[in-house]
Amino acid sequence: MNTTDRTRLDETLVAIAAADADELEAQRVAVLGKAGWISAALKTLGGMSPEERQIEGPRIQGMRAAVADAIDARKAVLDAAALEKQLTSEVLDLTLPAPETPRGSVHPVSQVMDELAEIFADMGFSVATGPEIEDDWHNFTALNMAETHPARAMHDTFYFPDKDGEGRRMLLRTHTSPVQIRSMIEKGAPLRIIAPGRVYRSDSDATHTPMFHQIEGLVIDEGIHLGHLKWTLETFLKAFFERDDIVLRLRPSYFPFTEPSVEVDVGWQDVAGRRVLGGDGDAPGHGWMELLGSGMVNRRLFEFTGLDPEKWSGFAFGVGVDRLAMLKYGMDDLRAFFDGDGRWLAHYGFSAFDQPTLSAGVGARA
Ligand code: DAH
Repeated sequence: MNTTDRTRLDETLVAIAAADADELEAQRVAVLGKAGWISAALKTLGGMSPEERQIEGPRIQGMRAAVADAIDARKAVLDAAALEKQLTSEVLDLTLPAPETPRGSVHPVSQVMDELAEIFADMGFSVATGPEIEDDWHNFTALNMAETHPARAMHDTFYFPDKDGEGRRMLLRTHTSPVQIRSMIEKGAPLRIIAPGRVYRSDSDATHTPMFHQIEGLVIDEGIHLGHLKWTLETFLKAFFERDDIVLRLRPSYFPFTEPSVEVDVGWQDVAGRRVLGGDGDAPGHGWMELLGSGMVNRRLFEFTGLDPEKWSGFAFGVGVDRLAMLKYGMDDLRAFFDGDGRWLAHYGFSAFDQPTLSAGVGARA
């Protein structure tokens, strides 16, 4: 091997052994590329005598192979180092919880309805629904509010110009109570339902919106009495407000569809200037807050729906869902519920993953 080539080869191998990725490519081009010096040496083989070629051929090929092997070896080292660097810089800890991607939130009204369904399901109630466009008979007459009944005046609503097939006036239902009638007719007795939903009245100010939400409860069975009503409401309110010290006061009242009728108040106490539910409302510094209407199902409803009032009795109640949400989550303006303001929802809304359950707490926040 001539000394020039030997020196060049040594220099090349040293350079390759220390090259980074760019330098390695430069070496490859300078040595093995089209105009590289080994490529040029290979080309000289064509002009040699066979004897000469027998000696020069293996020598030049040997140099080419040495350089090619050195490049491969260096490349393997550089690739391994690059991979190592990537592995140490891009740490991925699979044991960390995945970051939550917030996609909207659950409205407090929906959340409270889910909480109520969870609580009442535990007491054997199923969820019933009825139409929001209701007819006059289900909304009023069958609930013992005849055409001229004065109680209709408190339920002014939006009427439709057309009547249904049986000549009944159509209207936006003013309460969820017509679902009592529909369930009694469709399912008969015994019966244990709640009926959450939208209701409408032509009312609009800071504490009234033309649309709001109610939940109706109805139990019909043999031997049902006021004690069952009181226990059910107490159990429901303790679970809903997540407090054991909820105290109820039943006051005589009047609703056409219940007899006797009671208005249910719940005791509150003053905690650092705020009214917090819980405790006996008659204790000093405490008070009572009206919460819902209820009573024993009026026997006229059994007659209207074809159930035997001698065999069955029942209780019913109706409560505002928006009001329950306001009391539980400390929201003070009813109108904000229906403004669709994203900031309000971001503040009061619930994560879609926060499913109410009795074991995890019905109103647990994520
Ligand atoms: N439907 C009544 C209203 O909207 C509320 C109500 C009162 C419902 C007493 C009931 C009940 O089931 O028993 O004003």
